[in-house]
Amino acid sequence: MTAGGNGASAGSEKHLIAIRDLWKTYRMGAEEVHALRGVDLAIDRNEYVAIIGPSGSGKSTLMNILGCLDTPTKGEYWLAGRRVSDLDDDELAFIRNREIGFVFQTFHLLARASALRNVELPLVYRGTPAAERRAAALRALEEVELTTRAGHKPNELSGGQRQRVAIARALVTKPSILLADEPTGNLDSTTSGEIMDLFDRLHREGNTVVLVTHERDIALRARRIVAIHDGRISADVPADRAAEVLAGPLEGQRPPEAP
Ligand SMILES: Nc1ncnc2c1ncn2[C@@H]1O[C@H](COP(=O)(O)OP(=O)(O)OP(=O)(O)O)[C@@H](O)[C@H]1O
Ligand SMILES: [Mg+2]
Repeated sequence: MTAGGNGASAGSEKHLIAIRDLWKTYRMGAEEVHALRGVDLAIDRNEYVAIIGPSGSGKSTLMNILGCLDTPTKGEYWLAGRRVSDLDDDELAFIRNREIGFVFQTFHLLARASALRNVELPLVYRGTPAAERRAAALRALEEVELTTRAGHKPNELSGGQRQRVAIARALVTKPSILLADEPTGNLDSTTSGEIMDLFDRLHREGNTVVLVTHERDIALRARRIVAIHDGRISADVPADRAAEVLAGPLEGQRPPEAP
């Protein structure tokens, strides 16, 4: 298990995730936006990491690169022993399908497909035979306790159920890592708690979980907290030192009353 503060360095291939001096620059006409400015981070198998930081600090940019949905402008990214920072789109799609389970704030389900079909899709892309694919999708729905809703379309499910379908879709390929960008951002607090109970359980069962959150209670579920400010990692601490990074109010929370 990795303690906080470890940058990826020589031997990057030993970690599940290792990034070194990662930069992402968006060009908007003549203007350049440096969304990430030299990020170093290593994450090992079975870690449970919360990424926090103000709006616009680069959290989603980092998650999208970790999830092979985007590529860095500069720097190295090693995933499961393979250098993925320089792969082309097709190669990235291949790696993504095998190594990554990604959960989005807004679920990203196909509206016209049943829960079962949504969960099967990553295996369709992979070319898994239909019977095998269906069985795997049903197992994944069972993991998120949704077998009774397998035939429902997204608009026939509650928000929490939709997110559970999305989590089943992320799990169906047995990925190396589960990445979630504000997975409870569109859910009420009770439902958020249920979704987080599910992430906690998936971590206990051996999965590696990295999630982005704005909420203190959710960050405190993780075992390690990484704070990002202005495209740089400003703190990286184990959960028992969470007070150091969660002391100030997070976005969307009221500051404490003045004494
Ligand atoms: N496609 C893009 N083109 C140009 N600039 C972008 C693009 N995506 C993000 N940015 C900029 O990069 C910076 C980081 O954005 P990012 O979405 O990573 O922030 P975030 O930490 O996820 O914020 P939030 O908490 O609001 O989701 C912001 O300044 C944003 O405006
Ligand atoms: Mg974001």
